[in-house]
Amino acid sequence: MNIVVIGTGYVGTTTALVLAEMGWNVTGLDRDENKVNLLRQGSLPFYEEGLEELLKKHLQSGRIRFTNDTEQAVKDTDVIFICVGTPSHPDGNADLRYVQQVSSDIGRYMDNYKLIVNKSTVPVGTQERVTEWIRNAQLVPHSFDVVSNPEFLREGKALSDAMNPDRIIIGADNEHASKLLQALYYSLDCPVVITTPRTAELVKYAANAFLATKISYMNELAKLCDRLDINVKEVAEGIGLDSRIGPGFLQAGIGYGGSCFPKDVSALLQTANKHGSNLTLLEQVISVNRAQHLHLLDKVRTRLGSFEGKKAAVLGLAFKPDTDDIREAPALRIIRALLDEGALVSVHDPVAKLPSDLNRSAVLCASPEQALIGADAVILCTEWSSYPLLDWKRVKQSMNQPNVFDGRNLLDAKLMTALGYYYQGIGYC
Ligand code: UDX
Repeated sequence: MNIVVIGTGYVGTTTALVLAEMGWNVTGLDRDENKVNLLRQGSLPFYEEGLEELLKKHLQSGRIRFTNDTEQAVKDTDVIFICVGTPSHPDGNADLRYVQQVSSDIGRYMDNYKLIVNKSTVPVGTQERVTEWIRNAQLVPHSFDVVSNPEFLREGKALSDAMNPDRIIIGADNEHASKLLQALYYSLDCPVVITTPRTAELVKYAANAFLATKISYMNELAKLCDRLDINVKEVAEGIGLDSRIGPGFLQAGIGYGGSCFPKDVSALLQTANKHGSNLTLLEQVISVNRAQHLHLLDKVRTRLGSFEGKKAAVLGLAFKPDTDDIREAPALRIIRALLDEGALVSVHDPVAKLPSDLNRSAVLCASPEQALIGADAVILCTEWSSYPLLDWKRVKQSMNQPNVFDGRNLLDAKLMTALGYYYQGIGYC
């Protein structure tokens, strides 16, 4: 079976490589010629552990190739995965223009039966729209099926998540299509939920919104913990051991970011509004998240008096560790607020870079040691595993004031205090 994966972003590239690893012949299709050329040479357009090795392996095995020739790719294949972006409209609704574009292309060029698998995160009802877009673009009628198959992989863990998923959701409106997709995933060992396309579409949003809700709940609780002198990490451990709650996504911090949670929670809220249903809980999840970085900034301001002329060293830019992705990263909100209030800001991240609007006003340093020189406060925004390994005893000498504000509760509070730091985490940590 030949497979085409349309869109070579995070989900598309990972999907294509995992399918190649399972033994299928895969073509990655993208209209961006630069991306295609980069991938052909064995380079990834983003940072993700382990993926570049797999790319090189399968360029060599011949099981993966990349092209921007849509017509040829569609004609040569049996199965097409749609993995294009679904960004947010300003009102929070999902923008389906890329899904529509590729659906029309598929319709125009198809010359026999195709199974079309949608992995892009899309609002309820999109499978029906994709079916219509394909049908309307067909020059000659050919049969096809559109299956909704949401992807749950996380950045930084893309490969292991895609190879060992917790579950596979298949939203199909006939058995033939769902059997075909199951056969494709033959080597994945996990529960498979066969359902309607609309249910599958909702499952993806519902899962992300639920995880975001867990985080915002812990972030609210952390603020109470700060007032009560109770360690929020211990509260998280205590509640997470209840199997009905589970230990994941209970880490308080400076809020969630990334390309999925903020966008997907808003899109689900929009869907609810459109259908006359009030998901007011999600409105709170969003507003807690938007303000969460301010809680840490308040702590810094209280300690320093004001930010005017003070030097802040921000450790971590990416929205989470093991990725260079800075989309909706809380670190950016913190840096902008510090600059607005007159602070001098130095930044370090092992892989992420500053966005262009901050390039001149903040200084990106090659090492955390360099960022800390002369600092009045360290503000840790991303829990990179290298940060606890810093020689904190030595770097203290180079700081102006030994203040550490840990937005991810990463460092050992007792150790930092013993080293002579004024240390504050989130939620009395
Ligand atoms: C998420 C979903 O987990 C994944 O299933 C979906 O396919 C895409 O969206 P991702 O955005 O890659 O994945 O990152 P994730 O690990 O879920 O973290 C999202 C954000 O939540 C990060 O900013 C992270 O720092 C934050 N977070 C996570 C917390 O603040 N506390 C936690 O306990 C967990």
